[in-house]
Amino acid sequence: MTSPTDTVPALGRLPGRAGALLAELGDRAELHDLYDEAGSAVYHDITASDTHEVRELVALVRQSTGPVLELAAGSGRLTLPLLATGRHVTALELSPGMLAALDERLASAPVRLRERCTPVRGDMSRFDLGQRFGAIVLGTTSVSLLDAPGRAGLFAAVREHLAPGGRFLISTVDDALPGNGVEGEDGEGPGSDENVYELAGASGRVYRMHEYWPSGATTRKVTVFPGDTDGAQDGPVPVFTSSIAIVPADLLIDETTVAGLSLVARHPLPTGGARHRDVLLEMEVTA
Ligand SMILES: C[S@@+](CC[C@H](N)C(=O)[O-])C[C@H]1O[C@@H](n2cnc3c(N)ncnc32)[C@H](O)[C@@H]1O
Repeated sequence: MTSPTDTVPALGRLPGRAGALLAELGDRAELHDLYDEAGSAVYHDITASDTHEVRELVALVRQSTGPVLELAAGSGRLTLPLLATGRHVTALELSPGMLAALDERLASAPVRLRERCTPVRGDMSRFDLGQRFGAIVLGTTSVSLLDAPGRAGLFAAVREHLAPGGRFLISTVDDALPGNGVEGEDGEGPGSDENVYELAGASGRVYRMHEYWPSGATTRKVTVFPGDTDGAQDGPVPVFTSSIAIVPADLLIDETTVAGLSLVARHPLPTGGARHRDVLLEMEVTA
C-alpha cells in the first residue's frame, strides 16, 4: 500500500470569535489539528457516546455480505457497531493518534469483536489493500476532509476494492441551511456566521466548540477550546481545529458517476447540526 502522508495540514489563522479568543490567549495557546495525537484524545472524548448514523449504517451493512472496509475509522465510534454485526472489519485511518485511541477502545471490547478487526494506517484517497469487500463505509461526512483530487482517488480506490454486488456507503451534507437555525450560548441570532456550543466529554471535561460557517461558504471551521479558558490564569491552553469542506450530495453523485459508481439509494439521516441535514448515499459499481 502507498505510504501515508502527514496528517497535520497547515493550521492557518482562525476566523471569527475563535480567532479573537486565540489572539487573547497569546503565547499560552497551543494550536493543534483536531486529529493529531493530542486532538485524537479530545475528539474521542467528545464523540464517545455519539450515535449519529450508527443505526442507518448498520442496517445497510447487514444487507451486504462479506468483509467490511471502514474508511477514516477514527477512534472506532462506528467500528464497534460494525463489528457487532458479526463481520470482519478493516478499519483504515490516517492519524496515528486516532489509531492509538482505536487500539485502546478495542482492547476493552469483547474478544469476539476485537479479533475480527484489522486496523490499518492508510490514506483513504489512495489505498491498495489487495482485497475486496462486501461493503465499504465512509461515515461522519468525513469525505469533507478531502479536496477534489483526493475524492477522485478515493472513488477509484473504492471501485477497485468492492466485491461484485458490494455496496459503498458514504454520508455527506444533503442540504446546507442558510444562516443560523439555533441560538448558541452567546445568544447569536439567525444569520450569524458562528455558533458556539458547550459540550461535555465522556470524561466529564467541558469543551467549547466554535463552528464558523458563513452562509454560502464552501468550508466551515470547527475549533474546540477547553471550557474553562476564562477562569484559567496561566499555563498552556490547548486549542484544536479542523477545516471541513462542504461536499453536497449532488456533487458527490456526479463525481462518483464519473468514477464508475452508481447511486442505488439516498437514505436521509437525522439532522447533522444546526446548519445542515445529512444523507447516507448507497452506491454500487456501475454494471
Ligand atoms: C470526523 S472524524 C470521523 C472518525 C470516526 N469515523 C467517527 O465517526 O468518529 C474523521 C477521521 O478521518 C481521519 N482522516 C482524515 N484524513 C484522512 C485520510 N486522508 N485518510 C484516512 N483517514 C483520514 C481523521 O484522522 C479522523 O479520524
